[in-house]
Amino acid sequence: SAFLLVLSACGASETSGGGEKKKKLRVVTDAAYAPFEYQDKGEVVGFDVDFIKAVAKQAGYELKVEHVGWDPLFVEIKGKTADLAVSAITINDDRKQTYDFSVPYFLSTNKILIPKDSDIKSAADLKDKVVAVQNGTTGQEAVETLLGKENKNVKKFKDNNLAIMELKNGGADAVVADNTVIEEYVKNNPNENFIVIEDDGAFEKEFYGVLFPKESKLKVEFDKAIKEMMENGEYAKIYKKWFKV
Ligand code: ARG
Repeated sequence: SAFLLVLSACGASETSGGGEKKKKLRVVTDAAYAPFEYQDKGEVVGFDVDFIKAVAKQAGYELKVEHVGWDPLFVEIKGKTADLAVSAITINDDRKQTYDFSVPYFLSTNKILIPKDSDIKSAADLKDKVVAVQNGTTGQEAVETLLGKENKNVKKFKDNNLAIMELKNGGADAVVADNTVIEEYVKNNPNENFIVIEDDGAFEKEFYGVLFPKESKLKVEFDKAIKEMMENGEYAKIYKKWFKV
């Protein structure tokens, strides 16, 4: 994809060292965001999990990915009780004040999930509707920009699956979340009669990054490893596994 080309243009890198034994890293996530991170028979799996394992391997680290939830993952990184977080986390200025991010590794944007027979045609139509979002996400931010900050019609949930549940139960007219996630949901649940619509004018292009505590030394090593994976085909292999392009 064009995104891979952009990233691989980020610069040639030397091969990584390896050899010496490094500590096992603790990675935290909110595993309710398929296909990026979700739980399968008690195991955390997904694109992000394969991605971060490959990055760590390239950088010479072992790691364990643990589901802690969305708000808690930020608390852990801020308090340095975890080494890093991977959770389809959008790189933005607000978060950059408190955290460090890796180089971008995935392109995303918010889109709108609605029932097939909805009269919502664009983001502007959300104005007098009830919209479910995951609390503390760029989706919440985007919807509050449209509807107003304290608007009771914005229903906030601790994970995205609960927001979708609210839509299914008729407690909301739409869900706003990352395109890949709601498109995957529609694909996997064709009988629920949902569709995804986009609105380029209302929702910005976003990039995911790995989240680190400020001044983490790991960032430098992981950035190098990510760039190497973009160049040696390893990233493309994982991308293909999950997105079949
Ligand atoms: N990309 C959006 C954000 O950073 C949503 C991410 C939600 N991720 C998750 N694993 N629930 O705000």
